[in-house]
Amino acid sequence: MTSSRKGIILAGGNATRLYPLTYSVSKQLMPVYDKPMIYYPLSTLMLTGIKEYLVIVSPIHLDAFKTLLGDGNQWGISIKYAIQEKPEGLAQAFLIAEEFIDNHPSALILGDNLYHGNELIPQLEKANIKQTGATIFVYPVSDPERYGVAEFDENKKVINLEEKPRTPKSRYAVTGIYFYDDSAVNKAKQIMPSSRGELEITSLNNLYLKENNLFVEIMGRGMAWLDTGTFDSLHQAGSYIRLLERRQGLKVGCPEEVAWRKNWINKKELKKLAENMLKSGYGKYLLDIQKDPFFEN
Ligand code: TTP
Repeated sequence: MTSSRKGIILAGGNATRLYPLTYSVSKQLMPVYDKPMIYYPLSTLMLTGIKEYLVIVSPIHLDAFKTLLGDGNQWGISIKYAIQEKPEGLAQAFLIAEEFIDNHPSALILGDNLYHGNELIPQLEKANIKQTGATIFVYPVSDPERYGVAEFDENKKVINLEEKPRTPKSRYAVTGIYFYDDSAVNKAKQIMPSSRGELEITSLNNLYLKENNLFVEIMGRGMAWLDTGTFDSLHQAGSYIRLLERRQGLKVGCPEEVAWRKNWINKKELKKLAENMLKSGYGKYLLDIQKDPFFEN
């Protein structure tokens, strides 16, 4: 199914925790095993049926993203680009994307967030069909103080959201994918910078909470939400993807495959994409998935 929701991939930031790796290369273009990092969040949103994307990047990396992703036509989607001059907060994405969003519902995903697991597609679909309100996705972590944290009542209803609290009220971190109705831009305009000088996504989500219009999906222990912001977490994410892909012979976060399974590109177009990548084995995978009727869909 195709969605009229617009997709925003926020891929700016300074990635200081990965210096010197990220002096000249964007974090979101770093490899996670066999693909550039941004392929994973892009594929995640493609799985929900979104076809129109805005990729927000830092000024110095714009050309590299364009070289990699182009206008999206090769995958049957549309990709446009915008610049975030400085990393002034996740909610700034909605000010930058105002024209692109054009009063539509939207979904924002962080360009360095990786999701994997059986529950993912049904949970995203549940969020995608909602035309009003916002949906956040929370995940239990051992270090919630590093994230936005959700507090729940006994009915699992969110009653409070706090950004990087000193004493977290739960173990549930708000992850880097958010679905919003068409009022997100107007709400983002009401937000003031926080004490650390950022337009916080938590402030935007709190505006929805105040209206009693914030929904939450709890990602369970069968799901993986991976971080890629440090040397170790980047390495671990690569190892995780390598292990899965080598064991199953199926790729995770492969936009060519998602586009083909969604019928956004045909066999001939998939074959053409494969031809450039035969030496790496990536191309062979794209050829194999169309030959084998038992390949899991
Ligand atoms: P962070 O990991 O908080 O920041 P960072 O990527 O710049 O890394 P570091 O802490 O090492 O300096 O950001 C999370 C994601 O959001 C990441 O993909 C970068 C992106 N981001 C923006 O694009 N713009 C912003 O204003 C902020 C705050 C983050």
